[in-house]
Amino acid sequence: MPMKEASASPRLAIVIMAAGKGTRLKSKRPKVLHEVGGRPMLAHVIEAARQIVPAHDIYVVIGHEAERVRAAVESMGVQFVLQAEQLGTGHAILCARSQVQQFDHVLVLSGDVPLIRPETLAALRDFHLGRKAAMTILTAEPADPFGYGRMIRASGDRVKAIVEQKDLTRPQQRVREINSGIYAFATAPLLAHIDRLSTRNAQGEFYLTDMAAHLVKAKKPVLAMKARDAEEILGANTLAELASLDSDLRRRKCSELMASGVTIYQPETCVIDAEVEIAPDTIIEPFVQILGPTKIGTDCRIRSYTIISSSQIGQGVQIRPGCIIDHAYVASQAVLGPYSHLRPGSEIGEGAHVGNFVETKKTKLGKGSKANHLAYLGDAEIGAGVNVGAGTITCNYDGLHKHVTTIEDGAFIGSNATLVAPVRVGQGAYTAAGSAITQDVPADSLAFGRAHQTVKEGWAKRRREGVSEQK
Ligand code: UD1
Ligand code: CA
Repeated sequence: MPMKEASASPRLAIVIMAAGKGTRLKSKRPKVLHEVGGRPMLAHVIEAARQIVPAHDIYVVIGHEAERVRAAVESMGVQFVLQAEQLGTGHAILCARSQVQQFDHVLVLSGDVPLIRPETLAALRDFHLGRKAAMTILTAEPADPFGYGRMIRASGDRVKAIVEQKDLTRPQQRVREINSGIYAFATAPLLAHIDRLSTRNAQGEFYLTDMAAHLVKAKKPVLAMKARDAEEILGANTLAELASLDSDLRRRKCSELMASGVTIYQPETCVIDAEVEIAPDTIIEPFVQILGPTKIGTDCRIRSYTIISSSQIGQGVQIRPGCIIDHAYVASQAVLGPYSHLRPGSEIGEGAHVGNFVETKKTKLGKGSKANHLAYLGDAEIGAGVNVGAGTITCNYDGLHKHVTTIEDGAFIGSNATLVAPVRVGQGAYTAAGSAITQDVPADSLAFGRAHQTVKEGWAKRRREGVSEQK
């Protein structure tokens, strides 16, 4: 950063505490990797932090299952600090001492407070800088303050101390204002006094919250800023709290989508991940799940009981009930379902139809082509204007290797075909119903791959009469 700029605006870092085990979740998975809104809690916190400072000024403190946590969020471009032993939130910041000392201020966030909005972080930063505080604590008054550290105010914005739930005296238990676990610190007083933290408390940990009392004692200004929305700063320490944050987040996502012009019927029954993008005038029916980095264009209709993950859907696509669409690409005006299963690598062309109980995998279905009933299309390259008859199977696997079936433009695959790959059906060719096609079919020809029909006249009648004679 050029000198001029550095002196003009204070240098700001963000530290995210994410080293704890999360004992109260009773899970093998590290707490910050538990998901809300389809993403690890930590990823949400990093996403908010990235709106405030560049990713390389974000330090994530990791410890419990450090490598697993690092691997999960490394791609977001943040830095990591190891807290080998988790001796408390104060100790977590102590571990990041050398990293933060090059900055004038540091925002401290908790990896298990995932609903925090960037706007609130910006407001905390501005309040903290504007008031020249040594420490500013983001607080709230949730419906149930139990379990949180409580704010002991001096007067006005001034704070005297933060007292943890387990250390509360009886009168202090009545305090409703809680510590969110999100703070802004001026780095110099933080580092000058952090060695005063001790483990003399109910949990035998170095509490970062004790910095409030230590800084007050050193006559430094410690302030509280109350968040407008208590919901935003709720933590997740138990699976029940996690589930409630998850539904908060999904409600928030549905509201955003509806505000942008997407119709969602009974949004409380829909599960839509944070990263999903949907264009206006698309309609989502009840009990739909849309997950991962999925993009859906305008004027689509997604009917009930469909699950779409990490896929791209064009404009005006009709998705009838009960489809499963995973890592697939669906071009505009296509019609899917009911009960279609598009597995990874499926590319459905413009205006194409995939119907009842049709499974596709690593398969291209060209523009306007139709596979409407009961088919398995795997490792297939299917051109435009092709009709794939009911019950068609591409036999793509010989027990050792996968092979490709190619069906060229305008071909007609009769019902109940068995296409033994590698095989090619040429442009405009027909295959007769019930055929096993094991050899390439030249363009514009008709291939039979079945026994000719034999008719024995009167056979059935004779048989019936023979049987009744024996009785
Ligand atoms: C903390 C606050 C409490 C506040 C609450 C808000 C303290 C002592 N208490 O309590 O006042 O109301 O958050 O949610 O800070 N962590 C580390 N290293 C450690 C311990 C924890 O990185 O050694 C991380 C955890 O992974 C977690 C965060 O710090 O992401 C908070 O720790 P947690 O144990 O959940 O603190 P709370 O008991 O919730
Ligand atoms: Ca917590």
